[in-house]
Amino acid sequence: MVILGAGPAGLVLANILRARGIDCVVLERAGRTHVENRARAGFLAPHTVRVLDRHGLADGLSLRGLTHCTCEFRTDGGRFRLDYSRLGQGEPHTVYPQQNLVTDLLAAYLHAGGRIHFGVEAVAVHDADGVRPAVSVRTPDGRPGRWRARYVAGCDGRHGAARRSLPPGTARHHHRDHGVTWLGLLAEAPPSLDAVGYATHARGFAGHMARTSTVTRYYLQYERGAAPDAWSQERIWDELDLRMRAAEYGPLRRGPVVDRSVIDLESDVIEPLRHGALFLAGDAASLISPSAAKGANLAVLEAELLARALGDALVTGDVAGLDGYSARCLEHIWRAQEFSYWMIALLHAPSGADDEARFQRRLRHSRMASLRTTRSFQDWFAEHYVGV
Ligand code: APR
Repeated sequence: MVILGAGPAGLVLANILRARGIDCVVLERAGRTHVENRARAGFLAPHTVRVLDRHGLADGLSLRGLTHCTCEFRTDGGRFRLDYSRLGQGEPHTVYPQQNLVTDLLAAYLHAGGRIHFGVEAVAVHDADGVRPAVSVRTPDGRPGRWRARYVAGCDGRHGAARRSLPPGTARHHHRDHGVTWLGLLAEAPPSLDAVGYATHARGFAGHMARTSTVTRYYLQYERGAAPDAWSQERIWDELDLRMRAAEYGPLRRGPVVDRSVIDLESDVIEPLRHGALFLAGDAASLISPSAAKGANLAVLEAELLARALGDALVTGDVAGLDGYSARCLEHIWRAQEFSYWMIALLHAPSGADDEARFQRRLRHSRMASLRTTRSFQDWFAEHYVGV
C-alpha cells in the first residue's frame, strides 16, 4: 500500500491501516520539519474528534484542544451571537492547530513502526488499472525511483501526482472560482473574541478565528492578484479594526503578523474518487473554500472510510467498501460544498451599484436577518456549520 502525502488525510489513513497490520509506506515530498510546522486549518468537527478518538489518535487534542461553540456576526445592522453547541445537533468545535495534529499523527505512525520517506516526490502513478500499480518518484538527491503496491492512495493535495495521473476523460472535474480573495493572516496575538468572528462590511469581509490562547487567525477580503505583503502590519490592523467595528465593540488585540497567504476562494471536486487501484482523499479529492472550515474535516472522514475499505479488501478480500468509497465520500463532499457556497454568499456581496449587486446585497441582508431571528434557520446553520 503506497500513500502519497503526509497531511491529515495521508496520516490518518496510514495510522488506521498500520493498526490493522497492513504494510504501507507514506511518500512525502517535503521534509519532516516543514510538515510538522505548516499552519493550516484548526477547527475540528465533532465527527473528526470521534474518528481520531476511535483510533487512539486524539491524545494531543484531548489535552490541548480548546472547545469552541460560538459565532459572532458583526454587520451594519448590529451584532449577534449564535451558540451553535446549543443549536442543531448541539455540538461544539475543537480548536487544535493542524500542525499539532499532524505532529501527533506522525509520532503515532512512527511509534507503531510505520514507514515514511520524506523528501520523496511522487511524479506519477502508472498502471492504476492493473493489479500492481507503480509510483514513479524523485528521491531527495534527484534520482528516479519506483514503488509498486496493490493499491495507491492519493493524499497529496490538489496539485499532487495522484490527480495528475488520472487518465484524460476518466474523471469529471467540477470547478468554481467564487470570485473572492482573502488575505489569510496568522498573528502572535491572543484572540480578541471568545467566538469565531464574521464581519460583513461595505469595504469587505473580515474574519477572526482563535488558534491557541496566544495565536489568532484573521482573514481580510482582499484585492485579487495583490501580493500578500502589499499591506503594512499597521494597515492590516487598522483595516481589521474598521471592518470588525472596533469603535463599537472594542479594539482587536494586536501583535506581530507572522504568516500571510493570499487565498482565492475556489471549490473543485473530482468525480469519481477512484481509478482502478488509485484512490483520492482529502484535497486531492476535493478542494473547499476555508469559509466553513471543512477541508481538514472532510480529509479525516474520507481517510477513515478509505482505510476501512482498504483494510477489508486486503485482509478479508471484501471489496464492497472500495466499490462504494467514491459515492459515499462524494455525498459528504457535495453537502460540505453546498454549505461552503452558502457561507460565501452570506459573508460577501458584490459592492457594485448595478441591479444584480444591489439584489445580492439585499439577499445577504435577509439571510443575516433569518440567522439572527429564526430558530429553525439557526438549527440548520449549526448542524451544517459543525457537521461534515
Ligand atoms: N509527492 C509527495 N507528496 C506530495 C506531493 C507529491 N507529488 N504533492 C504534495 N505532497 C504532499 C504535501 O507536501 C502535503 O504534505 O502531500 C501533502 C498533502 O497534505 P494537505 O495539503 O494537508 O492535504 P490533505 O491531507 O488532503 O488535507 C486537506 O487539510 O491542510 C488542511 O484544510 C486544509 O483542506 C486541507 C486539508
